[in-house]
Amino acid sequence: MEHDPLTAETMLPLLAGHTIPWQVRAYYRIVSTNDTARLLAEHGAPEGTLVVAETQSRGHGRRGNRWLSPPGGLWFSFVLRPHLPPERASGLSIVAAVALARTVNEPADVGARIKWPNDVFAGGRKLAGVMVLSAGEGAVVVGVGVNVNVLPDELPQPGRYEATSVLRETGSPVSRAKLLARFLSNFEDRYFAYRSPDGSRLTREWRELSLVIGEWVTATVGEETVQGTVFGLEDDGGIVLRLADGSHRKLLPTGTVTLSVVG
Ligand code: BTN
Repeated sequence: MEHDPLTAETMLPLLAGHTIPWQVRAYYRIVSTNDTARLLAEHGAPEGTLVVAETQSRGHGRRGNRWLSPPGGLWFSFVLRPHLPPERASGLSIVAAVALARTVNEPADVGARIKWPNDVFAGGRKLAGVMVLSAGEGAVVVGVGVNVNVLPDELPQPGRYEATSVLRETGSPVSRAKLLARFLSNFEDRYFAYRSPDGSRLTREWRELSLVIGEWVTATVGEETVQGTVFGLEDDGGIVLRLADGSHRKLLPTGTVTLSVVG
């Protein structure tokens, strides 16, 4: 299958007029867009530095998981300099997940929803993942992987979750360059809203898209396991669980946390 080109030339016209001045570095094959973006950020790359690749030889997900990155997907990372305290920086994964779920639902509504802290699901399967890394003095890298035009037999085989792609959900390929440009535009709106004094607009949108609100879940935070009902979504991207004894426990979407919906 031929894939639409993801090059700086195809991206630049689509990024004209955006609030963040995106600078695109497009590769055919790279080890990991996260690694490259992080290195660039550590060497002072400005907000808006965007690294995108057709394939990654060693893409990684949260908690050291491998991330399969065949041609046809959208694998990218970008640098932000958000001037946020560290406990709010982790919430950028929710900002990105909300923008991503909205974006993949735009060409055709695939019913994409957010499974806290970092997954976008459609039809009960994982469609995309987001991760946020700190990258030296004041910089953050957001890494995003979306199975866009990935053929069903190239998707990761069932492991922890079954995977899906936009192609599999809709039956037809979409332009990755346009999807990326739309994502960046949707992300910008929500990024500025998140940094404003009233971050609650984002939380309302997240609530509409959340797969876990009201659900009984098991969460692991490092070595610890807790169970409870997801009772609240907070403006900093955290969730509040109501535990069996009636007490409340807040979790932030940091790198070590995982969540599964029970039953
Ligand atoms: C997850 O679900 O665990 C997050 C997956 C993030 C994958 C993307 S693909 C582009 C970027 N480069 C990487 O190595 N990882 C992220």
